[in-house]
Formats: sequence, C-alpha cells, structure tokens
Amino acid sequence: MAIRPVLRMGDPRLLQVSEPVRELDSGELRALLADMLDTMTSLSGAGLAAPQIGEPLRVVIFGTGAHNPRYPDAEIVPYTVLINPELEPLGTELEQDWEGCLSVPGMRGLVPRYTQLRYRGVDERGRSIERSVSGFHARVAQHEVDHLDGILYPMRIMDLRQFGFTEELFPGQGLADD
Ligand code: NI
Repeated sequence: MAIRPVLRMGDPRLLQVSEPVRELDSGELRALLADMLDTMTSLSGAGLAAPQIGEPLRVVIFGTGAHNPRYPDAEIVPYTVLINPELEPLGTELEQDWEGCLSVPGMRGLVPRYTQLRYRGVDERGRSIERSVSGFHARVAQHEVDHLDGILYPMRIMDLRQFGFTEELFPGQGLADD
C-alpha cells in the first residue's frame, strides 16, 4: 500500500461533505484503509479522514500507540476504523484543549469539544461499532468526523489568539510537527 499526500487547508476538497460508503468489505475499501493507515503512521497522526487524502467518503481512522510524538501526553486510544459514523453528545459539557491536524501542519489551536459522547458506525467488514467515550478519545472522534462534513478545527476555535505555530506556542517541547 502507499503513503498518500495529505491535502492542506486551502484545498477546496477539504471543505466538501463526504458521501456514505455503500459497499463494505470490498477490495477498494481495504486498499483505502491501508493507505490511510500508512499515511497516518508515517506522519505520527492521531487520526485521519478519507477526504484528507482526496477520497470524499465517510471513513475515518484514529488511534494512538503507547507514545505519539505529536501528542506525548495523550491517553491511549485504541486503533479504530469507523465508517459512516454518527456522533451523539452525552450531556452538554464542553472542554477546551489543543488540537493539531495533518492538513494544517505546524500549527495548534484551542478547540472546544464535547467531553463525552457516543459514536456509532461500522468497521471495514460491516460489523457495528458503538462506544461511549470521553476526553482525548472523544476529541479525536469529533475532529475526524468533522472532516467528513468539511469542517477543519480552526473553524471551531473560539478565540483566534489561541491559534498559532506549534514551535511558538510550545517552545522547546519538541512536539513533532511538520
Ligand atoms: Ni485533522
């Protein structure tokens, strides 16, 4: 499989609303997921949405291993493939925290997200997934599903003073970012 170029903010394809996947368990879908995983891993991303590699389909992957240099303090999120996802906030509580995005390289912003939510969808074989999650796991899911609706995290920032280059916001912390 292949590492694919990641579209960057400004590319109008990132603003499209993606289409649901209609055929599960297909070779095309498996190939797309393999490319997404290779691409995300090569860039130490915590998640990736299909439209970020130019495929306007409602497919996201996310997960963090034991140590992710982009998010060294984040809790471990299991590797997850989520197709045709739906999010349901649990409660109204929002939490602000720093986010980055492989489509907005070298930058971070303070973004409000629901603290707790339930997500539903299917995996690549059509098995249903339903999880109630919180914290960083909930944040990553919201960030990735936003990509499917053409929303990039800077559009969610409430105070644009809390948006900038990673090296300036967090000097000397060596947060890997490209
Ligand atoms: Ni992103």
